[in-house]
Amino acid sequence: MTNSELAHGREHVVATVDEIPPGEHKVVPIGRYGVGVYNVRGSFYAIANYCPHEGGPLCVGRTRGTNVADESRPGGARETREGEFIYCPWHQWGFELATGTTAVKPEWSIRTYPVRIDGHQVVITA
Ligand code: FES
Repeated sequence: MTNSELAHGREHVVATVDEIPPGEHKVVPIGRYGVGVYNVRGSFYAIANYCPHEGGPLCVGRTRGTNVADESRPGGARETREGEFIYCPWHQWGFELATGTTAVKPEWSIRTYPVRIDGHQVVITA
C-alpha cells in the first residue's frame, strides 16, 4: 500500500441514513476495534471505537455536551453543544466526535473519519 492510499483510505457504505436517527449511533466493523458512526442533529461523524487512555470501548459510552463556565447557574457552569462529545465508559474521558480531540490530554486525541451522505447511504472513508 502506498502512502497516498493510506492517506485517502477507501470508501465504505456503512448504513442507511434511516438506520442512524439523530441522537443514535452504530458501530461498524472497520479496523481492529470498529468505528462508531454518530448522527448529531443530522450531522454524521465517525470515530475510532478505542479509547487511548487504557483501551476502553469508547463507543459503549454515552454522548452529551461539554461544560462551560456560567456564573449565573448553580455550580457556576452549564452544559453546551449537547450530544457532540462521546464519554468513555471506563473513566469518562470525553472526546469531540467531530475531531477526536480530548481536553483531558490533547496529545492523545483519536482518529476520526470523513463521512458523506450519498442518497440514503452513509459512506465513510477509512
Ligand atoms: S480507558 Fe477510556 S477513559 Fe480510561
